[in-house]
Amino acid sequence: MSNLTKILKKNFDASYHQQLILAGDLADSMNSKVYLVGGAVRDVLLGKSVNDIDLVVVGDSEDFADQLAIKLGGEITARSQFLTAKISFSDFSIDVASARRDYYPYPGSLPQVNLVKSIDQDLVRRDISINAMAISINRNTWGDLIDPMNGEDDLYQRKVRILYKRSFRDDPTRMLRVVLYSQRLGFPIDENTKDLIPKNLRYLRRMAGWRIFITFKHILRESDPHKILDEAHSLGILRSIHSSLELENVDLDQLKLITKFDGENSHFVMLSILVSSLAELDSKKLIRRLKMTGRWIRVINDTQSLKKLVKVMSAEDLLNSKIFDLLSNLDVASLEAMYLISDSDLVRSNIRLFLDKLRFLAPELNGDDLIKLGFPEGPYIGKVLKNLENLVIDGIVKTREDEVNFARGTLTDL
Ligand code: CTP
Repeated sequence: MSNLTKILKKNFDASYHQQLILAGDLADSMNSKVYLVGGAVRDVLLGKSVNDIDLVVVGDSEDFADQLAIKLGGEITARSQFLTAKISFSDFSIDVASARRDYYPYPGSLPQVNLVKSIDQDLVRRDISINAMAISINRNTWGDLIDPMNGEDDLYQRKVRILYKRSFRDDPTRMLRVVLYSQRLGFPIDENTKDLIPKNLRYLRRMAGWRIFITFKHILRESDPHKILDEAHSLGILRSIHSSLELENVDLDQLKLITKFDGENSHFVMLSILVSSLAELDSKKLIRRLKMTGRWIRVINDTQSLKKLVKVMSAEDLLNSKIFDLLSNLDVASLEAMYLISDSDLVRSNIRLFLDKLRFLAPELNGDDLIKLGFPEGPYIGKVLKNLENLVIDGIVKTREDEVNFARGTLTDL
């Protein structure tokens, strides 16, 4: 068995390393066994930085998580039916789970969970071999690598391999995950694993949309999501999720443009580019199929609204205030996407002007100021403020004094 004490010390951020020591000590004091698992182990072995810590406890994980939160000064912010807890700190989090075995009553169902008494049993139920390793962090066994599925070998042989034949049937999102890790790490998909994909695609059709959506979000947050989508498309995975994701009409070259945008909204920009070539009805179907929520829906709807504005936006000599009115209610991510993909220079420059300048402009005066100037409370104040906003955006009114003069002028209209 390999011992990774040195690698842990070298590749783990010092503060995370200390947290692991404290977690191991706590487990010792509770007579439990605790392990670092999943992506953190894979990334430590690859010499990459680790941002998420997943711990698995053989023993009472709920009590362990409560005590660890107190010991490390974090807060339990989530618990799930699968005996997992999230401990959040100001800038990172630790997930704690019980060692468990999953049983899937039907393809793609949520698993029924049984606690198990060894980490090996927990690891063999996982998605791919390179994600199915654990490192012991109890003091006596600190650094021992537990690797029942030979993930370390696969890591060095650069292979993405599922662990058992029915894996995709149990959890069809793993077909997307296999592509995700293959593209992220540049590791080919193992031949046997690849052969199983076409045979299991049908299970994706029936799978709950919200679960696929979790993996979909994971993909859109990757640095090169277009490569993952491209490969998932070639393997027939996307169209098996929903016909609207056929992608025949999506210009994959456009998706590459996203790599030119690495702002915090990049996953939403990616989504917008992805759906920009879909017909409005298809984008609505996609929202329903994946049970999307919140800003994800807004970005899709705004992408469709923006497509309808392209003609108006191509007009020469548009007033800045007109550009503002057209764009100010739309999500920034759909605007950034249209900026990247539009082939009209005018549309692009108008969007850029709005994003970089116009959206930040506003009159200095507010409703209270107008009341102080003698305006009666009521809807007229809103109208004056809107006029002021237009004048500021068009650069006609430049100073607070100009604004007061303009407002006073309209008082006489009352
Ligand atoms: N896992 C799984 N099947 C899934 C999802 C997750 O077996 N459908 C297991 C894997 O062992 C995975 C771990 O749960 O390593 C955590 O999953 P996740 O947080 O999605 O990924 P990470 O491994 O942490 O990797 P990363 O966040 O870097 O993608």
